[in-house]
Amino acid sequence: MKSAKLTIDGNEHEFPVTVGSEGEVGIELSGLRKTTGAISLDPGYGSTGSCLSEITFIDGEKGILRYRGYDIEELAKNCTFVEVCYLLNFGHLPNEAQLQDFGDKMTRHTLLHEDMKKFFEGFPATAHPMAMLSAMVSSLSAYYPGAGIDEDLDLNVVRLLAKVKTIAAFSFKKSMGQPFVYPRNEYSYCANFLHMMFSLPTENYKPSKVLVDALNLLLILHADHEQNCSTSTVRMVGSSHVSLYASIAAGISALWGPLHGGANQAVIEMLRMIRNDGANYQKYVDMAKDKSSGFRLMGFGHRVYRNFDPRARILKRTADQVLSELGVDDPLLKIAKRLEQVALEDEYFVKRRLYPNVDFYSGIIYRAMGIPTNMFTVMFALGRMPGWIAHWKEMRNDPRTRINRPRQIYTGPTHQVFVPRAER
Ligand code: CMC
Repeated sequence: MKSAKLTIDGNEHEFPVTVGSEGEVGIELSGLRKTTGAISLDPGYGSTGSCLSEITFIDGEKGILRYRGYDIEELAKNCTFVEVCYLLNFGHLPNEAQLQDFGDKMTRHTLLHEDMKKFFEGFPATAHPMAMLSAMVSSLSAYYPGAGIDEDLDLNVVRLLAKVKTIAAFSFKKSMGQPFVYPRNEYSYCANFLHMMFSLPTENYKPSKVLVDALNLLLILHADHEQNCSTSTVRMVGSSHVSLYASIAAGISALWGPLHGGANQAVIEMLRMIRNDGANYQKYVDMAKDKSSGFRLMGFGHRVYRNFDPRARILKRTADQVLSELGVDDPLLKIAKRLEQVALEDEYFVKRRLYPNVDFYSGIIYRAMGIPTNMFTVMFALGRMPGWIAHWKEMRNDPRTRINRPRQIYTGPTHQVFVPRAER
């Protein structure tokens, strides 16, 4: 297919077609308004491609997810999160020397400016850690004002990846009312994060291999997912040429919503509700089917995946494994499995092809690791960071990027005659 034809009021217009490396077809409509005066209307962008991208490929029908061409299953089995950060941002897997160099830099940039600790003091103890994360990442632009504009971009990429886990752990400590724990350079990325989360001045904490491996896997599975709501936000905000930190802070806010990354917290709240209500699965499945209830099965459904979410498959397996290795017997895991079974046998879910997504089982693993529910979306953000950054870089380096500025179809009142206040 080389072009597509569109007939408007009997006039035929021809538009070029772009075919991706996996055969995806896009009709290039950027000239639509100029040639026809009309615009395309696609609320929610379900049929709209916003860019060409070389980073991640998803085939929702076949349940395929690949970063830079590598299957997620293979990356999850064989890589560290730091390796995946490198892959997403530099386009290829690192060799030993490249990984060593990148890993060292990630280790050496973990500290926050001491003044930033004062920002945490200003938050109430009840502040949601996502509110703190977004504000703190935005604040980094005050310390590195040239980030990605006139300062070395790769250095700022490393800074952000390294510092965000310190910010995340400090947010947790703030909410617990415990002293901040500084990073230690002898630890790997994941071990360092766990150390900052769980160390106390009163006792020595040594991150266990089970926890480090589980965290590594979780972060890799969340590392990128092409043009989802938060990544598109990062690209859109960045298209105004604002800094890397400001763009990523906007992405963090987009992720927070319960229809996106906030779903992992919402899943656990839902499972608890079901347990406290006598494990009446059918009642909740019926409620989710009833549009007037305003209730959805959290952790179910996806815009792109229509048969299964490959990340959810890996996580279901991992939940069993991690809980058994840690000796944790979580009744919510049984509830989740039974709820999945009841929903997957229901015609409503079968017909709409709604399956568990990445958020359905991730929370159960986080719980077993000792991570509290309100930190789950922060964990998602930590994982998604390399993906957001890679997309920001790709967007800024693409000569086709224009400031993102969609149009609309106006449906409000036509011209009205102004009536002075006294006469209204
Ligand atoms: N429970 C009940 N019904 C659902 C659900 C659900 N979780 N998800 C979709 N539906 C129904 C929806 O009502 C609609 O029905 P109908 O055709 O009769 O109007 C149909 O399925 C299609 O849904 P949609 O809302 O058009 O799908 P979407 O692509 O716009 O939304 C979604 C995708 C993920 C926002 C949605 O499935 C949802 O709200 N799921 C629950 C929240 C959730 O788990 N979010 C995490 C997504 S994965 C992590 C991430 O990448 O953010």
